[in-house]
Amino acid sequence: MEKSDFSVLPSHIGIIMDGNGRWAKKRGLERSKGHIEGAKTFRKIGEYAGNLGISHISFYAFSTENWARPQNEVDAIMQLFYEYLEEARERLDENLEKGIRLRFLGDRAALSPELQYMMDYIEDATKEMSKVNLNIAVNYGGQQEILHSVKKIAQRVRSGELSPDEISLDDISAGLYTSDQPPVDLVIRPSGEQRLSNFLLWQSAYAEFWYSDVLWPDFTTDDLDKALLAYEKRNRRFGGI
Ligand code: IPE
Ligand code: IPE
Ligand code: MG
Repeated sequence: MEKSDFSVLPSHIGIIMDGNGRWAKKRGLERSKGHIEGAKTFRKIGEYAGNLGISHISFYAFSTENWARPQNEVDAIMQLFYEYLEEARERLDENLEKGIRLRFLGDRAALSPELQYMMDYIEDATKEMSKVNLNIAVNYGGQQEILHSVKKIAQRVRSGELSPDEISLDDISAGLYTSDQPPVDLVIRPSGEQRLSNFLLWQSAYAEFWYSDVLWPDFTTDDLDKALLAYEKRNRRFGGI
């Protein structure tokens, strides 16, 4: 297999972790089993991408639309998220040694107080790190995020701090969860779907896309290598020639 020498790495990759349910169904298992396997893949791929030197990695774990799923499935996903947060707290020293900064993208007010406490704790405990910026999008929606930013700008306009004509792209970016992070260079979506599903809409304005039929629990470091090799060969023009 042709392999990248990783000399042209994206600064920010976004990964839509999709296909857990189909993975479980194929095996006659409950969907929650797919999420358990998917959570293992998330740990493996996050670690691998960080070791490669990708400085910003965003994982889509739960969308604002995913509340439409059966309650037991939502509960199973939240439980897995809690277990991950506990593990991150237990392994805090290890994470700090590796320079990992963990952040959560999305509206956390709808999550349980226990989850919110852990998210705040881990963000705060890793906030001085900068080598690997690991973002996990939970109750995240790209349109909702932009709306939230626009509302903050509207407040500034109402208070007289800013005039409507002065509103800039930077003002909108500054109100996003990723305000101090680079735009997304590469979006990776397994499971055969070819859509963004409301993921990092603003940040992916000029992102390259890479799709694969592999279901997320089966996604390997080789698949990430393939995506990175494809990225390396893309000609990013940003509107130029
Ligand atoms: C996991 O994959 C992504 C989440 C929303 C948690 P899915 O649960 O969407 O798996 P499929 O698409 O049904 O196979
Ligand atoms: C996108 O997957 C959301 C996450 C991976 C968290 P979905 O499975 O919810 O997306 P759709 O419904 O197929 O667009
Ligand atoms: Mg899906």
